[in-house]
Amino acid sequence: MTKMPNNFLWGGALAAHQFEGGWNQAGKGPSVVDVMTAGANGVPREITETVEPDKFHPNHKAIDFYHHYKDDIAMFAEMGLKCLRTSIAWSRIFPTGVEEEPNEAGLQFYDNVFDELLKHGIQPVITLSHFEMPLHLAREYGGFRNRKVIDFFVKFAEVCFNRYKDKVNYWLTFNEINNKMDVYNPIFLWTNSGVVVHEGENPREVMFQAGHHELVASALAVAKGKAINADFQIGAMVSHVPIYPYSSNPEDVMFAEAEMRERYFFPDVHVRGYYPNYVLKEFEREGYHIVFEDGDKEILRNGKVDYLGFSYYMSTTVKSDAQEKNDGTVVNGGMAKSVENPYIQSTDWGWAIDPTGLRYTLNRLYDRYQIPLFIVENGFGAIDTVEADGSINDNHRIEYLEAHMQAVKKAVNYDGVDVIGYTLWGIIDIVSFTTGEMKKRYGMIYVDRDNKGNGTMKRSKKDSFFWYKNIIETNGKEL
Ligand code: BG6
Repeated sequence: MTKMPNNFLWGGALAAHQFEGGWNQAGKGPSVVDVMTAGANGVPREITETVEPDKFHPNHKAIDFYHHYKDDIAMFAEMGLKCLRTSIAWSRIFPTGVEEEPNEAGLQFYDNVFDELLKHGIQPVITLSHFEMPLHLAREYGGFRNRKVIDFFVKFAEVCFNRYKDKVNYWLTFNEINNKMDVYNPIFLWTNSGVVVHEGENPREVMFQAGHHELVASALAVAKGKAINADFQIGAMVSHVPIYPYSSNPEDVMFAEAEMRERYFFPDVHVRGYYPNYVLKEFEREGYHIVFEDGDKEILRNGKVDYLGFSYYMSTTVKSDAQEKNDGTVVNGGMAKSVENPYIQSTDWGWAIDPTGLRYTLNRLYDRYQIPLFIVENGFGAIDTVEADGSINDNHRIEYLEAHMQAVKKAVNYDGVDVIGYTLWGIIDIVSFTTGEMKKRYGMIYVDRDNKGNGTMKRSKKDSFFWYKNIIETNGKEL
């Protein structure tokens, strides 16, 4: 039976705002997520103007890793994780984003976390920006629609690179930078870029301008990082949802191909260092005025990423003549002309369960870019039940994960795709990003906390905990 390559990075993935808590501890400033309330499946999260004390902001406390990090990391170690992907909350380091000097207490917190991980032989894989822009930059500067925010981000990146250069080797610049191609759901532009679209504006034009600034910021950060430590591996991170044609009708096939550009635009620039023609043509056709400054082209060329990180949860299927749905309700990786795929089942939250889509994705991305790939998010969000004896039998999760990991193994061992590792999303239960719920659980470690924030925060091992431990121990031999 084959195994995964030696040094394959089996791990878990998290994002600061979804699990740390301690939202205003030790000098941390509010971030764009700290003003989001809890929603539910089909009920959008509200973005409040500022932190409103009478509203419930579930990320404030999250699962309080801030005070539990030693015990939580000990559990990750017991599972045998080789790496932990997490993020640095920007507003812990620069509370408003514009300070001259970083917040030492915030930096120290991550020193403590990284030291604890390394003590257990777990390598930190760090995202610089995972939906945690300081609120001040969003409200006062308009987020990344403002070019000045590039400098604030690059300064933050430089501080992190310098401080953690001996502790962190794998970095990612912006989490799921391409989420915001869905401009109809305000949550994406807000969390990605700190941007609110105003009346009369063309949201797609605004998105491209903010996106351009982020691509420049990412490229500048890559160049700075490499100058600080030439061994750093700095990657991009995109959400990848493959788009299938509904039928063999060439119209459907071409339509799906063109829709895939919504997924490819950002990684095309990150990896190749220049804008693809299909987007330049769109700017021309639509009359978008996207400001490129002198030198931007060179910056993009000099800041190409070393590897491509991506999340994979589901696929979607489009039909060229389907009725358009552009009302902000398409949140499950769908497109305006998505239709149901008769061959695919979905989770309780409507996310298509498609393990073959992961193998397909790995092949398409590798053929296109020919650089190492890192699956930095994949997982199964579901309701878990604690049995009377305290056990949590999450076979539904094991089934999902096993099928997806088998797909990765085929892509590596049969297709020859270069995959650095696999970090399972939400290794411990956390606050869901799109809904703000706790009951949409991904973890292998259960956390006693409910949608309203009640619970003891007690951690317990689910069945999948032991299953994953064995997969890691045997390096995927049993998959
Ligand atoms: C990705 C994000 O979009 O998917 C995570 O990078 C997020 O932050 C994950 O949590 C799963 O989404 P959700 O809404 O189920 O938490």
